[in-house]
Amino acid sequence: MSATGGSAPSHANEHRRSIGDPERFWGEAASGISWSRRWNRVLDDSGSPMFDWFPGAITNTCYNALDRHVENGRGDQTALIYDSPVTSTVRTYTYRELLDLVARCAGGLSGLGVTKGDRVVIYMPMVPEAVIAMLACSRIGAIHSVVFGGFAPRELATRIADARPKVIISASCGIEVNRVIPYKPLLDAAIDLSPWKPEHCVIFQRSQWEAPLTEGIDIDWSSLLTSEPAGCVQVNATDPLYILYTSGTTGVPKGVVRDNGGHLVAISWSMKQVYGMKPGEIFWAASDIGWVVGHSYIVYGPLVHGCTTVLYEGKSVGTPDPGAFWRVISEHKVNVLFTAPTAFRAIRREDPEGEYISKYDLSAFRMLFLAGERCDPETLSWAERMLRVPVIDHWWQTETGWAIGANCVGLGILPVKPGSCTKPVPGYDIRVLDEEGEELPAGKTGNIVIRLPLPPGCLTTLWEKDSDYRKTYLSRYPGYYLTSDAGFIDEDGYLWIMGRTDDIINVAGHRLSTGAMEEVLASHPDVAECAVTGVKDTVKGEVPIGLMVLKAGVNRDHRVIEQELILRVREKIGPIASFKVALITKRLPKTRSGKILRGTIKKIADGTEFRTPATIEDPAVLDELREQLSAAGFPRK
Ligand code: COA
Ligand code: AMP
Repeated sequence: MSATGGSAPSHANEHRRSIGDPERFWGEAASGISWSRRWNRVLDDSGSPMFDWFPGAITNTCYNALDRHVENGRGDQTALIYDSPVTSTVRTYTYRELLDLVARCAGGLSGLGVTKGDRVVIYMPMVPEAVIAMLACSRIGAIHSVVFGGFAPRELATRIADARPKVIISASCGIEVNRVIPYKPLLDAAIDLSPWKPEHCVIFQRSQWEAPLTEGIDIDWSSLLTSEPAGCVQVNATDPLYILYTSGTTGVPKGVVRDNGGHLVAISWSMKQVYGMKPGEIFWAASDIGWVVGHSYIVYGPLVHGCTTVLYEGKSVGTPDPGAFWRVISEHKVNVLFTAPTAFRAIRREDPEGEYISKYDLSAFRMLFLAGERCDPETLSWAERMLRVPVIDHWWQTETGWAIGANCVGLGILPVKPGSCTKPVPGYDIRVLDEEGEELPAGKTGNIVIRLPLPPGCLTTLWEKDSDYRKTYLSRYPGYYLTSDAGFIDEDGYLWIMGRTDDIINVAGHRLSTGAMEEVLASHPDVAECAVTGVKDTVKGEVPIGLMVLKAGVNRDHRVIEQELILRVREKIGPIASFKVALITKRLPKTRSGKILRGTIKKIADGTEFRTPATIEDPAVLDELREQLSAAGFPRK
């Protein structure tokens, strides 16, 4: 029986209930979580537009992810499968084993003086030690801040300076397909750049490259694990669990703060109702722990829900086997896969007829979820045809931490409309507003906003920057959270997310700021002005291109300068920016008042002739782009 007193919970009913009486709805959902003390109220709105979920409640996230499952008989169930084609490793950890390692790591961190509320930066590749480190922090109430391994030292330094960690946990190296990337030198460079210095760095030594350690400062991960296991430290539901930095509209990243209690409730509710998962089943989020998807659905969601999670160190393609994903699904009997559309575009390019799919037994596999960028209907339909399972596009952001718009399969699957991310998820009251704040009718595109309060699990603020949080997200339309996505709701109530309204672009599902890249280009001594914009790419969805005008009198070879600029973005932001196109032009398209018309650049680059089946990294495509720009009046000098 549902709480509505009769009919089975449907998407429509649950959504109505969640908006009509959020306290009751989320209070019921909270019964799935272990609390040491119950909340005073489900929702405290006295500080509106800032809200607290479950104030007064006391809990521990690690306890909910590990200890209680061991206590309740899941000790011998596999909690984590580490599958790493780049190191030819497959290793499993039961809940009991994972708990032991996490408790020892937590004990080691306590031994280094890390206590509740201290920050710990984690800069690691996709290894189980990264998951252990995250859970160890949550065990002792320390706030982790994971930084994606593909970011350059300068980006890492900005995050270190903002989070001010007592300890940084890293690894000697990462492995990118067939290239070893020493992480420790990048970390050292970042610490040099940062005005804040950590007391210690804990380094996980990998056999592919061992890092020299500095005595007194650097600590070997393996010695940390000889520590006595630490118990769970009780924290307030409203205390921060983690900070995750994400691209903002300037070069300064935004520190999204996630609480403990609301996050636990939302994440476990979503495992059941959005993804239709049962405890004991196997969930694979093919992302990276450095992104929000990794936090929510490699680490916390599956473990809190008592599932087995897969940690995959590799690419969807590019390994010797274009069937890499199908091998993992079949070998580990994965029930549900979650990844970005870009992974499927890459697979499709390698294996358009799905020949590799048919080589594997995918009988346990029942659903594919896609998010991180707009999914083109063609890719979605291809995946449906090849896999013969429902393919569900769903929409969310680092800020929300879980889906805003989805086909909640736990509430009964709704008909799929390719290109749409189905309906607003229970908890989210979504509206589409015009520039004046008027609500738009069905089918009309506008700014997508969420009426406050946001449901549990969403960001509570930006790290130590309440006023920036209010300014960025809450001030444009008072009473609403601004998503910075544009789109519409159709006659059937389906949500269509069409693109960002700010300078954020999505490159292979990775969120990047073109403003941050422009800052890097503008810092080159020869550049007078520049513009970076995202243009279509057949695999990565979007890739950045930069157009630069040089200062008067610069006579150096333009091709050399272009290469310097490409390298500069790679060095300052990281390879993940995929910045491979820098073109020097005579002028930039501008309005009369001098505003750069980025849309015009995009239109030229996205022009039909330019849209070939190749990606923009292909030299032939690049030459075509030069010609297109030239024809449009922006030639090289
Ligand atoms: N450390 C260091 N460098 C990294 C890195 C890391 N953790 N992750 C990526 N990079 C580098 C890559 O080696 C590449 O460098 P290159 O320019 O020298 O080739 C660059 O950053 C871009 O990486 P990526 O965007 O992953 O592109 P790719 O061409 O290597 O692979 C895909 C493209 C689609 C195959 C790959 O992105 C993929 O499998 N994606 C799956 C889903 C996903 O990642 N989702 C994220 C959000 S849900
Ligand atoms: P991130 O914070 O990295 O998760 O990126 C969030 C942004 O990615 C959103 O604001 C959207 O612009 C985009 N995005 C994520 N999922 C989708 C989706 N399913 N459809 C369209 N855009 C999406």
